[in-house]
Amino acid sequence: MRVGGQDFRSIWVEEDGATVAIIDQTQLPHRFVTRQLTSLPQAVSAIADMWVRGAPLIGATAAYGVAIAMAEDASDAYLHEACEKLIAARPTAINLAWAVNEMHRLLAPLIPSERQAAAYAAAAAICDEDIAMNSAIGDHGLEIIRAIAAKKPGEPVQIMTHCNAGWLATVDWGTATAPIYKAHEEGIALHVFVSETRPRNQGASLTAWELSNHGVPHTLIVDNSAGHLMSMGGIDMVIVGTDRTTANGDVCNKIGTYLKALAAKDNDVPFYVAAPSPSIDFELADGSHIPIETRSAREVTHMWGRSDQGELLHVRIAPDATQALNHGFDVTPARLVSGLITERGIVAANKDALAQMFPERVVG
Ligand code: MRU
Repeated sequence: MRVGGQDFRSIWVEEDGATVAIIDQTQLPHRFVTRQLTSLPQAVSAIADMWVRGAPLIGATAAYGVAIAMAEDASDAYLHEACEKLIAARPTAINLAWAVNEMHRLLAPLIPSERQAAAYAAAAAICDEDIAMNSAIGDHGLEIIRAIAAKKPGEPVQIMTHCNAGWLATVDWGTATAPIYKAHEEGIALHVFVSETRPRNQGASLTAWELSNHGVPHTLIVDNSAGHLMSMGGIDMVIVGTDRTTANGDVCNKIGTYLKALAAKDNDVPFYVAAPSPSIDFELADGSHIPIETRSAREVTHMWGRSDQGELLHVRIAPDATQALNHGFDVTPARLVSGLITERGIVAANKDALAQMFPERVVG
């Protein structure tokens, strides 16, 4: 996607063929800063400290993390250690373990001298596959947007999203944003309501930044206004991403997604989840088994922002003695999901439909 007129992916390999570069998402939207990853600890920090975030990009970064580790030391022991450390960096998004396990499956049978080149090639393939899947999700989701647009000629399609499931959360296109970008490219009038996504504000900082860069009309809303907006009849569809969708179609995504799904159900607003297949965990029967990341209380008690003088400030918004609880994700039950938009097409959020669409992934 484009930043200031230049094409970018969210992760790439520099000209030396070994250094991995990323966009430091903790600096957005105020500064566009790229960082270089040259060691396993840096790759682990990039994921754990959320320089990169979003399920597919975490997976892609972890894949390159294995490659960087193999450039440092291609022994069996270090391959094992690298995979363990990367998987432990964040618990909820299944793409992380999926990508690392793919890398391990491919590299473990090779002799050490073959591992570095094979690892970089495999990580690049994971990135290319991510882009192809998101583009296909975009094509399938575009059909939904086209159908809504056809019913309201002359009026924009009003779409609500949550968190950032855009190109910054993937290698390119995004998952939830891919249909939006494709519809925008096609000239369909649309407008996106972006919920700020407290506490880290991925909606306000990242999704709004992406959409601004692409000229997609959008409005930032506080998370709490989603139900009110839907009840006023102003929203045609909700589309979000997923960090892990289980075999029965339960959807784990950024905290607050569940509330949006409840409000959507109550107001007959279609609620779609853009779900590339690596984010579907066929080993878990339902969402109650998903490990939910608990993050630092400081993300709730404090906020980052830029002063009118251009200074980045970290300020406390709660009393000094107040404790905070910070669950990063919630689970939306499958019954609230209108459909999962996968790279193979739109599928109902239930066990049979998912098994029929991905028979090779079914466990047991
Ligand atoms: O904590 P984050 O910023 O990594 O959470 C990201 C989300 O919840 C996204 O919506 C999800 O990963 C889908 S990304 C295409």
